[in-house]
Amino acid sequence: MYTEHRLYIKDAGGAHELDDGSIDLVVTSPPYPMIAMWDELFGGMNEEICRAMKRQEGRTAFALMHGELDRVWEEMYRVLKEGGFVCINIGDAVRTLGNRFQLFSNHGRIQEKMFALGFDLLPVILWRKQTNAPNKFMGSGMLPAGAYVTLEHEYILIFRKGNKRVFRTMEEKLKRLQSAIFWEERNTWYSDLWDFKGARQEKDGRGLRKRSGAFPFSLPFRLINMYSQIGDTVLDPFLGTGTTSLAAMACGRNSVAYELDGSFAPPLREKMYHCPLSLNRYNQERLKAHRAFIIKRTSEKGPLKYCNEFFGFPVMTTQEQKIKLVFLEKVEELGENHYRALYLDDEKARKLCAAPSHPELHEASTHTQQQSIPEE
Ligand SMILES: C[S@@+](CC[C@H](N)C(=O)[O-])C[C@H]1O[C@@H](n2cnc3c(N)ncnc32)[C@H](O)[C@@H]1O
Repeated sequence: MYTEHRLYIKDAGGAHELDDGSIDLVVTSPPYPMIAMWDELFGGMNEEICRAMKRQEGRTAFALMHGELDRVWEEMYRVLKEGGFVCINIGDAVRTLGNRFQLFSNHGRIQEKMFALGFDLLPVILWRKQTNAPNKFMGSGMLPAGAYVTLEHEYILIFRKGNKRVFRTMEEKLKRLQSAIFWEERNTWYSDLWDFKGARQEKDGRGLRKRSGAFPFSLPFRLINMYSQIGDTVLDPFLGTGTTSLAAMACGRNSVAYELDGSFAPPLREKMYHCPLSLNRYNQERLKAHRAFIIKRTSEKGPLKYCNEFFGFPVMTTQEQKIKLVFLEKVEELGENHYRALYLDDEKARKLCAAPSHPELHEASTHTQQQSIPEE
């Protein structure tokens, strides 16, 4: 098995390299309008934005900045397959302009645009990014009627294009089963509140921006597992440091990405081409967590009912019986910013994932049954 990964250093508002309906999933985080670190980037796209900011006209600048993002959302609608998902991580902004402090609702504005394009809005995830920063409370301190609540969350907006995805062939249906997630992961991942820390924001001192706006690896890693299956193609139109492409590689999905700033490409090559095996630890951690879950659950409630065919350990439901995680073997460079990832065969993957012997890890109750591939 192999996957391919491509990065285009150009504006995603003109993703001419991509055919209509060729992408299964978009996972991304755009530059956030009205957050100071992105003023220069938006100003470089449209001089009107600089003028509006100079005149302290916040609402005009906000509308113009979103106009620049809209071009990319339009392209996302074109290239996405029917039934495909778009997951957008976005935070709102607070800012004082023209002596008025106010909230600029980036998530609200993006939802409006996606709705107008024809996407269906789905329940959102609130990403709680708690901070201990001393300046997190804004305004008049302890004095009433002039202090503002803290901004310690971001959104993960989720949209679908058209009707539900249809899994037609036996091969597609089997891949769907192999790409399932564990029961206990479902209980956390499909919660509407995610609570983990943001990524470290330092850069590597090679003249890149001080902060990249990178999201933590777990964010695209979860979303890719939740909204796509092995062999699918994931697109990030605002790639930054490359987190989405690396997560896609770790999950056995192909990736395509766009990024305006070419200085991100060499460090990404370093991670993708020179040390891809470190990505295996994310699936290894999933297995470790599942094994810990089995031991705890068995001691509290008795043996789990079903058995996973690939790993031979117990699972909670029939839907988990064919789960098969992938592990990287090596990455080849096919051209500039173009890579092919090769994965371990079944025997080597099992060997890599072998667990210390523990009776609970091999015990499923007598109800174990063979899972067949569902017809629909
Ligand atoms: C918030 S950062 C993305 C961070 C990324 N999720 C990560 O983990 O590193 C947004 C990125 O989008 C890029 N960008 C902004 N507008 C773009 C456009 N029209 N086309 C391609 N890239 C763009 C910026 O240069 C920036 O690196």
